[in-house]
Amino acid sequence: MSKKLILGVDVGASGIKGALVNMTTGKMATERFRVPTPSPATPKNMAKAFGQIVEHFDYQGPIGCGFPAIIKKNVAKSASNIDKSWIGVNISKAFGNTSDAPIFVTNDADAAGVAEMNFGLGKNKKGVVVLITIGTGLGSAMFIDGKLVPNTEFGHFYLKDQSKVAEAFAADSVRKKKDLSWDEFGKRFNEYLQTLERITSPNLIILGGGSSKKFDLFRKKIKIETEVVPAQLRNEAGIIGAAAYGYQKSKALVNS
Ligand code: BGC
Repeated sequence: MSKKLILGVDVGASGIKGALVNMTTGKMATERFRVPTPSPATPKNMAKAFGQIVEHFDYQGPIGCGFPAIIKKNVAKSASNIDKSWIGVNISKAFGNTSDAPIFVTNDADAAGVAEMNFGLGKNKKGVVVLITIGTGLGSAMFIDGKLVPNTEFGHFYLKDQSKVAEAFAADSVRKKKDLSWDEFGKRFNEYLQTLERITSPNLIILGGGSSKKFDLFRKKIKIETEVVPAQLRNEAGIIGAAAYGYQKSKALVNS
């Protein structure tokens, strides 16, 4: 196997997805394999599901993993859509990190953003670029001249006139739960983007995650000044970015 094929795993609130990714081209070298996120999404249950992905690809080597929480040195510092028992847990260790197969963990939206900036629409984009992933929660990644500012968590600020954090008002899970029309969802998402725009004054906003495919259904409700575009890598960005993160970190290990 070429040394440039790295396993990327995107851990989400509803599914855990993995694929081998070619680090030269930034493209997936295999089909994506998905295991539903177990309920409750505890470390023990999720480690089992993660193991199924590694087993499926019969993979040995460094693994990059995107995880839906604030991540510092592989440790989860928050848990919004996963079991609260994750807080304070070293995810890499919980998922079975070994020296032959080290696991490097980063925030899932940061991973998706890194992929989009390197291999998608963000390529060579200067200034402030913000990527928002729309799914069970709202994830964010912010770049300044291509450099990531990690763990921005822009799905968690409060919206004016709402007594809720943004993702409890404008995530895709809310659209589904409240059976909102695309117009209603678009209106809410526009309100969210207005606040995001005020806070970050970005040059470009990229929408990623599963629902970015549906952008055409609500784009007419988006009325902010900043250019808003759907991600080019769509749902694959999380896996590709996770692999890229694992690749970078494993190279740093070898060189240190
Ligand atoms: C979490 C973020 C995550 C996002 C998307 C949010 O609830 O706080 O860390 O990036 O969901 O999964």
